[in-house]
Amino acid sequence: MTITLFKDERALARALALQIAAALEARPEAVLGLPTGRTPIRLYHELGTLHAHRQLDFSRATTFNLDEFLGIGPDHPGSYRAFMEQHLFSRVNLSADRINVLNGAAPDPERECERYETAIAAAGGIDLQLLGIGTNGHIGFNEPARELAGRTHRVTLTRSTRRSNAALFGGEADRVPREALSMGMATILHARHIILIATGKSKAKCIERMVHGPITTKMPASFLQVHANVELMLDDAAASAIRR
Ligand code: GLP
Repeated sequence: MTITLFKDERALARALALQIAAALEARPEAVLGLPTGRTPIRLYHELGTLHAHRQLDFSRATTFNLDEFLGIGPDHPGSYRAFMEQHLFSRVNLSADRINVLNGAAPDPERECERYETAIAAAGGIDLQLLGIGTNGHIGFNEPARELAGRTHRVTLTRSTRRSNAALFGGEADRVPREALSMGMATILHARHIILIATGKSKAKCIERMVHGPITTKMPASFLQVHANVELMLDDAAASAIRR
């Protein structure tokens, strides 16, 4: 894993936005995997700004979001789809038919997961997968467990994950859906290039375990150690527990 440090969240977001703009210039039809959460909000803002200044063109790009809550539709204000509309999709020129988000209201969730895997394969796989990380080491919604799923699947969320997503549901963890759909570990690890971003002291411990700890299903992000092309972009606070 290559690790790049930034003095703060803003510098990180700016650098990554420029890197994405360069990647899309080199390969306009790139397929991007996208995360939600607080961490990428500033990045999405920077991407919107670059687009407004005509320095970034998404017109031929394709996106696949990592995950979505189960049991709520794309119009629900707490959905990740709504989050993406607000922070990125409404601000850049992605073509609507190349935006892919799992449908949490699909009548048959298992079939929805299969549809998603087929769509990723049909797009040629993911070129650049952006990731955040949960404080418990989850990526997407692949929660620490005895076993992890390879492919896009239905998942039960942990209490801590529901708590950290409460802001999307009026601050009430009890209103956060109990289940979600998420890309699996293989879906993520098959991306050609992965960039994980983390900021703030609350991520320091899991970043240390992800980088230096054993590869274990109890820390799903530790599986990134087996991938040949992973970049970690961290602010000083998130990197503070890494041994150097
Ligand atoms: C959610 C998402 C993850 C994300 C994580 C971290 O649970 N499913 O994809 O990485 O939260 O969120 P934050 O960036 O708010 O810390």
